[in-house]
Amino acid sequence: MIKADVLLGLQWGDEGKGKIVDVLTPDYDIIARFQGGPNAGHTLEFNGIKHVLHTIPSGIFHPTAINVVGNGVVIDPVIFRKEIEALQKLGVDVQSKLLISKRAHLILPTHRLIDAASEASKGKNKIGSTLKGIGPTYMDKTGRNGLRVGDIETDEFMEKYSALVEKHKQLLSFHQYDYNLSELEPTWFEAIEFLKQLQFVETEHYLNNAIKNGKRVLAEGAQGSLLDIDFGSYPFVTSSNTICAGACNGLGIAPNRIGKVIGIFKAYCTRVGSGPFPTELDNETGEKMRQIGREFGSTTGRARRTGWLDLPALKYAVMVNGVTELMMMKADVLSDFQTIEVCTHYSYRGKTIDYLPYNIDPAYLKPVTVKLKGWNKDLTQIDNKAKFPIELMEYIRFVETAVETPISIVSVGPDRTQTIRM
Ligand code: GDP
Ligand code: IMO
Ligand code: MG
Repeated sequence: MIKADVLLGLQWGDEGKGKIVDVLTPDYDIIARFQGGPNAGHTLEFNGIKHVLHTIPSGIFHPTAINVVGNGVVIDPVIFRKEIEALQKLGVDVQSKLLISKRAHLILPTHRLIDAASEASKGKNKIGSTLKGIGPTYMDKTGRNGLRVGDIETDEFMEKYSALVEKHKQLLSFHQYDYNLSELEPTWFEAIEFLKQLQFVETEHYLNNAIKNGKRVLAEGAQGSLLDIDFGSYPFVTSSNTICAGACNGLGIAPNRIGKVIGIFKAYCTRVGSGPFPTELDNETGEKMRQIGREFGSTTGRARRTGWLDLPALKYAVMVNGVTELMMMKADVLSDFQTIEVCTHYSYRGKTIDYLPYNIDPAYLKPVTVKLKGWNKDLTQIDNKAKFPIELMEYIRFVETAVETPISIVSVGPDRTQTIRM
């Protein structure tokens, strides 16, 4: 039986998942997002145009692939509508190629307000949330209060909506948070009406039948493993399981139906929002990396924090995901560095360790790095691995050996074509 493959980020998000899903889509019949929501920003570049997708899977530009928004995703109807309308303007036939799980939860205007109120009340301990209402929506899901896509088609929709909003109003008054809901609700309800033209499906049946019938499915992750609610740098994480197991929960595909697990990582590290970041370069080198890599958030425009590649963290992500192959992104960004550092160990409470521990707070943990010679050569025009500089090949081998997993693709620029198969 052909199994479903999973593609996900191994760091703190923004590894380049959107680009690679787009590159791999010709090999698949179905692309399915399994968690997260409009906190994600997945960038695709081809024919000189750049597209940023938030909720819609990154296979949408291919003529035949079906794109599934799984039950594990949370949908903001307003953002979703904007995304669809932008695609329709480009001539993409979204209606026939997009299936939405009836079990996916809806982000209400009040979820966004609660996100903002909760962040404001945390002061300097704030998560650095994208303020898209992600945390409050998943809280209502696990708290068994949530509103789902399938509810839109029922007579009780308004009743359920109002009951949930009443709960939210109490929470907002507890936070003493000022807001004007009447400004937000009309657009939200218009977007709900808009959604009704789309296909609401029991995607768990659809996907399992597809797999049974030999269709090739690629599950697309959002965020990254170090933002996972269980295995990330808690509490500075997102509110879903971003790891491979999240694809099973978020799509209704059993673990024994999962085939390849493709882990995407940058040749260095970035993080946007708060929380510990062991290899962070809060200096000129980090600023240089940010400028060359254009490390500014695809969703919020915030500057991303930058740092060297962290191998113990990468090994951890490979372990919890069962990664079978790696893809290294943004190698071109390191071309201007004479020396490239890589974190191989940590100094943790006076001991040297080679694994990611429970506590990665800078007060307890410092990175131990090795210095490697940079390649100092532009990579963006290279079209074949035979043309890779020797130092880059050494860098690739160094990582593969450390994490005991092969690298199958090296990306040398944002465009579809700047993708080198190993
Ligand atoms: P995602 O959230 O994992 O899909 O990643 P984002 O789209 O948020 O961020 C990745 C950014 O890097 C985007 O602006 C991409 O266009 C860009 N990008 C992807 N791969 C490469 C690459 O190999 N080199 C360079 N320079 N940019 C890349
Ligand atoms: P993609 O899919 C990078 C970060 C936020 C914040 C934390 C919690 O594009 O890789 P949330 O809005 O989920 O409550 O924010 O997680 N974060 C991301 N960082 N890429 C993302 O998605 C992210 N989605 C959330 O910055 O630190
Ligand atoms: Mg992103």
